[in-house]
Amino acid sequence: MPELTSNPALRSLAAYPMERLHALKADLRKRGVPIHDFGTGDPIEPTPAFLREAFLRAVPEVSQYPTVSGKPELRRAIAGYLDRRFGVTVDADREVIPTSGSKEAIYHLPQSFIDPRSARRGVAFLEPCYAVYRLGALFGGAEPIALKLRAEDGFLFRPDLPGRVPDDIAARIAILWINYPHNPTGAQMTKDDLARTAAWCAERGILLASDECYCDVYGGEPAPSVLQVARQGVLAFHSLSKRSGMTGYRQGFVAGDPELVAQYKAARAGFGVAPHEPGQEAARLAWSDSTHAEERRQVFLAKRRLFMEFFLEAGIEVVASRSAILYLWIRVPQGMTSMDYAMKLAQFGIVISPGTDFGDAGEGFARLALVPTLEGCHAAIDAWRRAL
Ligand SMILES: Cc1ncc(COP(=O)(O)O)c(C=O)c1O
Repeated sequence: MPELTSNPALRSLAAYPMERLHALKADLRKRGVPIHDFGTGDPIEPTPAFLREAFLRAVPEVSQYPTVSGKPELRRAIAGYLDRRFGVTVDADREVIPTSGSKEAIYHLPQSFIDPRSARRGVAFLEPCYAVYRLGALFGGAEPIALKLRAEDGFLFRPDLPGRVPDDIAARIAILWINYPHNPTGAQMTKDDLARTAAWCAERGILLASDECYCDVYGGEPAPSVLQVARQGVLAFHSLSKRSGMTGYRQGFVAGDPELVAQYKAARAGFGVAPHEPGQEAARLAWSDSTHAEERRQVFLAKRRLFMEFFLEAGIEVVASRSAILYLWIRVPQGMTSMDYAMKLAQFGIVISPGTDFGDAGEGFARLALVPTLEGCHAAIDAWRRAL
């Protein structure tokens, strides 16, 4: 029997929050409680028909390996999107990589840019946040560094304020993740905020990785991209999952500094994660069209209005929540932990995510993913009234 070893990163893993939600829902189902599921951010509005049809039409007779660079037509469509949406010009061949959604691209980044033997191997992320920044850091041999966001800063990254990022910690950071529109809080940076963050990173030689997967499900003003204010030392991560209702298609892209793009492309040749070609064809059409994305955004806005009215009436405080309109970030009642509150609502079939699913800085809050249909949201509000 060979002596098996395992990656020590495995031992430091808490249960992936999604797995806990699945278990909770299975229990409710067993007890026959109707479920109003605001847990996972996976919308149920249908994928637009023209994208489904494009996918089917593109299934080839002979199947061959997709390339790391993706099809030139797709890269050109992505460049066109960045131009129309943000007024940003990119070289489709040197500054863009199609990816299989953004999750894998986020996860693999530290493996490509961190030297695990270096004293400066920190991958910093802003908690509360999406769990994969930490996972990618752990499995990439990096040092995960959680920087806590605060409600009093509007959940914005404010390294200019005293005590937010001590110098000794800043010196260990090689990659900084930001994510605006922000999951889970819905906070939004302005273009000036992004410029200040990019300058802070540039002064310290930090790679700035901006996860912009919610930029087309914005609240008020269209959400900006970091590429509007910086290119050198910067990578932006985009996704069709929420924008175009294509979570299962796994389509996204990375764009930015051509030197970083070249290095990332070289590393990705070994990962085996190039998006498949039928998906690339659907993605090409999705990036070329903004009408369907705007229609979806309006659907999320309608659900959001419904809940904002209810929360106002019920005295439940909605915090931040300006953008990433798929989500609402609420304060839990005094005297309860985030988990107590989530478990209390679960007794009434309402499944939400305790803020602590996104890191310790989420204690005292909870996240609703506005996934059920409009009718489903009405039914959930009735159930919530009973829970009050
Ligand atoms: C902040 C954030 N980034 C990235 C992703 C990954 O999205 P995808 O891999 O579907 O593009 C998610 C998914 O929920 C997310 O919330």
